[in-house]
Amino acid sequence: MIATVRRARKLDGEIRVPGDKSISHRALILGSIASGRSRLRGLSPGADVQSTTRCVQELGAQVDGAMLDGCGLHGLRAASGPLDCGNSGTTMRLLAGLLAAQDFESELIGDESLSRRPMDRVVAPLLEMGARASWPPLRVGGQTPLHGVSHTMVKPSAQVKSALLLAGLFAGGATSVIEPVKTRDHTELMLQAMGAAVEVEGMRVEVEPPSRLEPLDIDVPGDLSAAAFWLVAAGLVPGSRVVLEGVGVNPTRTAFIDLLLGCGFQVKFNRPRFAGGEPVADLEVTSAAALRSMEVSGDKAAEMIDELPVLAVAATQIAGRTVISGAAELRVKESNRIEAMEEGLVAMGADVTGVEDGWVINGPRYLEGAKVSAHGDHRVAMALAVAGLIADGRTEIDGAECVEISYPEFFDHLEYLC
Ligand code: S3P
Repeated sequence: MIATVRRARKLDGEIRVPGDKSISHRALILGSIASGRSRLRGLSPGADVQSTTRCVQELGAQVDGAMLDGCGLHGLRAASGPLDCGNSGTTMRLLAGLLAAQDFESELIGDESLSRRPMDRVVAPLLEMGARASWPPLRVGGQTPLHGVSHTMVKPSAQVKSALLLAGLFAGGATSVIEPVKTRDHTELMLQAMGAAVEVEGMRVEVEPPSRLEPLDIDVPGDLSAAAFWLVAAGLVPGSRVVLEGVGVNPTRTAFIDLLLGCGFQVKFNRPRFAGGEPVADLEVTSAAALRSMEVSGDKAAEMIDELPVLAVAATQIAGRTVISGAAELRVKESNRIEAMEEGLVAMGADVTGVEDGWVINGPRYLEGAKVSAHGDHRVAMALAVAGLIADGRTEIDGAECVEISYPEFFDHLEYLC
């Protein structure tokens, strides 16, 4: 599908972005090993979370709308064939941890993009725990029990941390993970809510194998990584005011908003409250008057890794040189996001140079509509659509159907807000 986006006169309205993808995956996976029926409202409608739903069903969990009947800690059964994780790295890596600890073997497969993504980062620490695990193809499980380890992570990754905590639920003794920077902590919070002994001390997370997990009853908050596109779009298009209802504002996810505020973006946190054990607010964003320069380097990049493609769009409108570094991980996401965003933004007239671990962007630049490619990557498609909203003429995004992965209503919301 080719999506056509034109310059917006202003963005105006209230929307609810899809349920948080990270929390949705975890709710389905942890709910599948809970003892009893969980109620999961507001799960992400995206294809990635549907992949997780199908996988946990294959493993024996019953899903009916918002209801999920878990199998208990020791009740999962072997799937009848390879588990298809589609485009979803989170599905593959988290399930690798859970399934490495089962006494049956599982094979996890994915689409072309996912098949290219590195899985040794979960395989190596699972081997340390005494699991059977190999890649490629990704095969785990069939050798139990695992033993608890203390694993120091070199690269920040919430997916790897979560995989180890999931395996640790079944290990003999405690499992601890020490992170180089604090990544999203939804797994820890959810496990605690389910009654597991999870201790967090600075950068160290430790889990003790529980005897059972209580079912969940949650309202999944809106996804801040989806809201990010509107925060930038409404900030850049003059005369805009957009309200994003019920967005998750867990502090491990808000580094991007802090950065935007530092640049002069106007974002208000209205009606702060809790939903499903996570902090939530209605985010109100209005156009920014003047933008100040910013820099992203080192650990900061990991704290806003999913928001960096749209941050690159914002940087094209900021005076001076913006350097975004420390983000080599972008090369191994659903696409090589460094190259994909450089290619798209340069085609639109921006001054963007991709480097090994980020971009150097000189602004402000006047953008012009162009034919660009999503490279099969949902976040690239949406970031380029935001660029299209501030560009002259027509921006045509080839392969824009990939927004289905995390935000099926993205173009409907775009039309509504414009
Ligand atoms: C996620 C963690 C991040 C992020 C991804 C979702 C998660 O990946 O990019 O979209 O839900 O744990 P890494 O753990 O590879 O940094």
